[in-house]
Amino acid sequence: MALADFPRHQLTFGPSPVHPVNRLSDHLGGGRIWMKREDVNSGLAFGGNKTRKLEYLVPDALAQGADTLVSIGGVQSNHTRQVAAVAAHLGMKAVLVQEHWVDWPDAVNDRVGNILLSRLMGADVRLSPAGFSIGFRDSWKQAIADVEAAGGTPYAIPAGASDHRLGGLGFANWAHEVAAQEDSLGVFFDTIVVCSVTGSTHAGMIAGFADLEQNFGGRPRRVIGIDASAKIDETRDQVARIARNTAALIELGRDLRDDEITVLEGWAGDEYGIPVESTDEAMRLTGRLEGVILDPVYEGKSMAGLISLVTDGEIPRDSNVLYAHLGGQPAINAYSGRYH
Ligand SMILES: Cc1ncc(COP(=O)(O)O)c(C=O)c1O
Repeated sequence: MALADFPRHQLTFGPSPVHPVNRLSDHLGGGRIWMKREDVNSGLAFGGNKTRKLEYLVPDALAQGADTLVSIGGVQSNHTRQVAAVAAHLGMKAVLVQEHWVDWPDAVNDRVGNILLSRLMGADVRLSPAGFSIGFRDSWKQAIADVEAAGGTPYAIPAGASDHRLGGLGFANWAHEVAAQEDSLGVFFDTIVVCSVTGSTHAGMIAGFADLEQNFGGRPRRVIGIDASAKIDETRDQVARIARNTAALIELGRDLRDDEITVLEGWAGDEYGIPVESTDEAMRLTGRLEGVILDPVYEGKSMAGLISLVTDGEIPRDSNVLYAHLGGQPAINAYSGRYH
């Protein structure tokens, strides 16, 4: 089945905005940087990359007669907040397992930002002491079993909506959206830079751009993932697996090559969720030059990667590079001790 034939339940406003960030480009003195803004892609609780992925999971959930979305993430997970919003929007319930992924001392960590928003939207929020992992968890299985025991019909959404058969489709579609926007803007983005943790954002893009090239006459380009998990081997494996599964699902018509799957390390610091100096510098630079807000968990780290690649000339001066801004700003509220 081609990508266009998969059912999609629209949750975004439409194509997300694409715009240049000229003051940042001028300051760095290298390739020209543009952004595509998933942080403003929807009216549902600030949107973000998961809203786009969920567009392809919702038809499956509705077809199964589900009445409760069950998902999992860290205490400040953007993903679970978007699941809560989508459940509210559809008139469904949400059960969210919020694990202790980040050892972060901020006194209000479990009361502000994403978790506050999820509670406000009526989700059943369950705090769990388990540490960082993108794998399957007992607490999540328990939450699913609880819904069933109470007579409900759960629909299970893994961390980041990634390890799911349909998890890569949202960003495969993003690639096609980029191609249409390039046509109307008269620009070609030879390099895409994206943050990668649970993997299906980056993986979906890889499959989608390969599809454009293979089946729609598109030009080749680089899709660079910047690891923010500080567990590079796991991230690389997960991105490669989801990219290949998604490519097969949308009938790419060939195998993905290893050189199409690039996840770079060097900007995640020692731990997921803990910003380092380069994260703070990227957040402040983008804020001060562009008025664009990045978070310390994901986008601050991927922007730090982009800044290095442009400054070092790894992304050449004649490049047009598209930075995928995936959202995540609500979590900043849990970092008040660092940014003041
Ligand atoms: C704001 C933000 N950026 C980037 C990511 C990484 O995306 P993915 O988990 O699909 O790799 C996430 C979620 O994990 C996120 O919430």
